[in-house]
Amino acid sequence: MSIKFDIEHFKGFVGQGDLTAIKSEIEKAHNELENKTCQGSDYVGWTDLPSRIEDSLVEELTQLGKDVRATSDVLVSIGIGGSYLGIRATLECLQTAEIPVVYAGHNMSADYHYRLIESLKDKDFSVVVISKSGTTTEPAIAFRMLTKLLKEKYSDEEVKKRVICVTDQKKGALRQVADKEGYKSYVIPDDVGGRFSILTPVGLVPLAIAGVDIKSLVDGARAGEKEYSKMDLSANAAYQYAGYRYLLYKKGKKIEMMASFYDNMQYVAEWFKQLFGESEGKDGKGIFPASTILSTDLHSMGQLMQDGERNIFETFLHIETPRHTIAVAHDEANLDDFNIVAGKDLDFVNKQAFQATAEAHFEGGVPNATITLCQADAFHVGQLYYFFERAVAISGALLKVNPFDQPGVEAYKSKMFKLLGK
Ligand code: PA5
Repeated sequence: MSIKFDIEHFKGFVGQGDLTAIKSEIEKAHNELENKTCQGSDYVGWTDLPSRIEDSLVEELTQLGKDVRATSDVLVSIGIGGSYLGIRATLECLQTAEIPVVYAGHNMSADYHYRLIESLKDKDFSVVVISKSGTTTEPAIAFRMLTKLLKEKYSDEEVKKRVICVTDQKKGALRQVADKEGYKSYVIPDDVGGRFSILTPVGLVPLAIAGVDIKSLVDGARAGEKEYSKMDLSANAAYQYAGYRYLLYKKGKKIEMMASFYDNMQYVAEWFKQLFGESEGKDGKGIFPASTILSTDLHSMGQLMQDGERNIFETFLHIETPRHTIAVAHDEANLDDFNIVAGKDLDFVNKQAFQATAEAHFEGGVPNATITLCQADAFHVGQLYYFFERAVAISGALLKVNPFDQPGVEAYKSKMFKLLGK
């Protein structure tokens, strides 16, 4: 089933006529993406990636996953940015991991990594280290610490079986380490940038080890590729979403709040923030991507959303059918008066809160749209990733920026290297 995109609460802010008025700009962006004449065209390998993924790779990784799980209590996934967020987003969204997955190298907190290493001392673990450039500071340092522990615990032969590298085919220190030490390795294609790499071995290797049905994930992305690669604005929800958010930006809505009443979508929103923030935020332009989990944050951010500066639009990430049902308990005393929902599924109450919030925010001057997945399963999350990737490519082109580079990320690095004497 397709992702639904509902714009009822854009009424009065932007409409069909506004979208039609920028159709030629969207068409131009689409054609330049397809013909590979857009800005950053060296990095558009993600556009047809799902249909190019070999079934044999999916089978190989599924078997690899079984082998690693047979010898490991825990998987450590090392990486940052595009080499981290999609993995965590998928695992937290699905909640089906067959082995605990812990993360390293996504920050440089000494306390975090101390606790992590201590917790691994009495466990059998394997490591997937992911870095496209193979030179990123955070994962490189974490990998040193994790290989030290592996070498203290296991023989050289055993260490080789417990380390898997995902990196460039030729370049970077991680490629050199993998080749020198004889670690198993998988290649990240040159033409797919970090934040677009969830369907390359970056995501597929750790997710397969975690026991995720990567075939369904890839099938979902393939369905997304089929649906969102077509230049039919009336049918392509990814292009509609890209167009409307650009129109809202032009009308002063500079912040997009990605909101979900489903807490398992928190890291999908984090992944979205990287995808859109790094792709659009340049040359003094870009919608600021923010996220909230509701109704939790209605009790902290609700006031600002309802009544603060009207520079926000909201996109709800909605789930039609959650995995579980749980009924609200009946209470004889009924002091809180909530027997009105006793026996009802908790999701019924959650959905009323969603509807009420969408209406209240709209009436308070926050236009909002809803992206609905029928289920938070591997197929639909794969489809959603492709939806957002297509949308950001068009959205970046509308803003007239190169959505596939991230020159600004270098600024802190060069200062840090200077401080470190590197
Ligand atoms: O989108 C990007 O390119 C970045 O956010 C990278 O994913 C991040 O910096 C990690 O880079 P690497 O995989 O080279 O270690």
